[in-house]
Amino acid sequence: MSAPFPETPGDTEWFVHDRFGMFIHWGIYAAAARNEWVKSIEEINDQDYQKYFDRFDPDLYDPKQWARLARQAGMKYFVITTKHHDGFCLWDSELTDYKATNTPCGQDLIAPMVEAFRSEGLKVGFYHSLIDWHHPQFPIDAAHPQHNDQEMLKSNKDRDMAQYAEYLHGQVRELLTNYGKIDMLFFDYSYSSQKGEGLLADGKGKDDWQAEKLIEMVRDLQPGIVVNDRTEIPQDYKTPEQVQPDEPVTVDGKPVLWEANQTFSGSWGYNRDECTWKSPEMLVQMLVDGVSKGGNMLLNVGPNGRGEIGPRAVERLEAMGQWMRLHNRSIYGCGPSDFSAPPDLFAWPFGCVRLTGLAGKVKYAQLLNDASEIRFREGGEVGYHLAPESSDTVILELPTVKPPVIVPVIELFLK
Ligand code: GLC
Repeated sequence: MSAPFPETPGDTEWFVHDRFGMFIHWGIYAAAARNEWVKSIEEINDQDYQKYFDRFDPDLYDPKQWARLARQAGMKYFVITTKHHDGFCLWDSELTDYKATNTPCGQDLIAPMVEAFRSEGLKVGFYHSLIDWHHPQFPIDAAHPQHNDQEMLKSNKDRDMAQYAEYLHGQVRELLTNYGKIDMLFFDYSYSSQKGEGLLADGKGKDDWQAEKLIEMVRDLQPGIVVNDRTEIPQDYKTPEQVQPDEPVTVDGKPVLWEANQTFSGSWGYNRDECTWKSPEMLVQMLVDGVSKGGNMLLNVGPNGRGEIGPRAVERLEAMGQWMRLHNRSIYGCGPSDFSAPPDLFAWPFGCVRLTGLAGKVKYAQLLNDASEIRFREGGEVGYHLAPESSDTVILELPTVKPPVIVPVIELFLK
């Protein structure tokens, strides 16, 4: 059953259908290997951060392999960080020298990636950071790596947000002009709610980005593109981050499209020493849970400095792919149900599942993984010495042993 379909400025039909995408956070921070925010967290200045730029040499970069991995996992679109907050650009921008082509890697990394994913049939999305800790006109605010550097703070009086906005618009124009059809755009992010008094409380928001004008240009260059709302202007969808909403997401009481973006282990950029990796089972459950509430899942990988998606991610993507191969028709084109889910949805209950309100509606039931029949009754006895179930309850008879898949699905065919 599909959710009520909100009106959106972009072409969101494919987005709602496809449900599952790959997020890719990749940049020179992969070399530090301790979070994409490393420059800010450790208050590293430009000079000390330069070593990651000078050494950026992803000699094993093979976007065809990334794209294959994503397709085999069942993902239908991808979103790549063209520029993250550190300001480093993966494409050959004419507006900066701070780009992949000037590192030992010496190439535009976006062009072959877009081509590889497209040829595996995936839709193309760009993440673009609104924040920029490298650009000389971007004010030094609380999140900026130099926010404690008193000398640098003095430069704020010469920093001009309008000039930065021009750069931002120019780069977005390049990205939406030079790589063919771009299906989605993920701006990141506004924090004007942090606006307050004092030098370090100057959060940025839509006026700083000149977001109205920016969106207008985006729509002009790529009609139909699906755009998120982190400029602070509501567009096509919302992006809850590292959280599973507990019900379909609404704004002012109206349902909206949404996509939870999730990590394997907490960091977005490659983080060598992080050991909090989610299990494939948990990841599949998160996907299913999101779809059942009308949301997509954008699951992140952080390729390393040599350009590889490491074994921990590969193992999980492959496991999800095995599940998706058998169960993708419970994901693509799916959404919230009008019926209430049985309690403890992800458990394998003993003996039976009771579905209230479904009597008279079910024609056939089967396990999706092997198309084996699940017999059912309407009301009546369950086991011994328990009061009979009411006649509006469908009782599905389960095998005692959970089927050998990480999240079993029972497919009901309704009359
Ligand atoms: C946040 C973080 C960032 C990550 C993003 C993904 O805004 O700043 O590192 O790229 O969310 O949603």
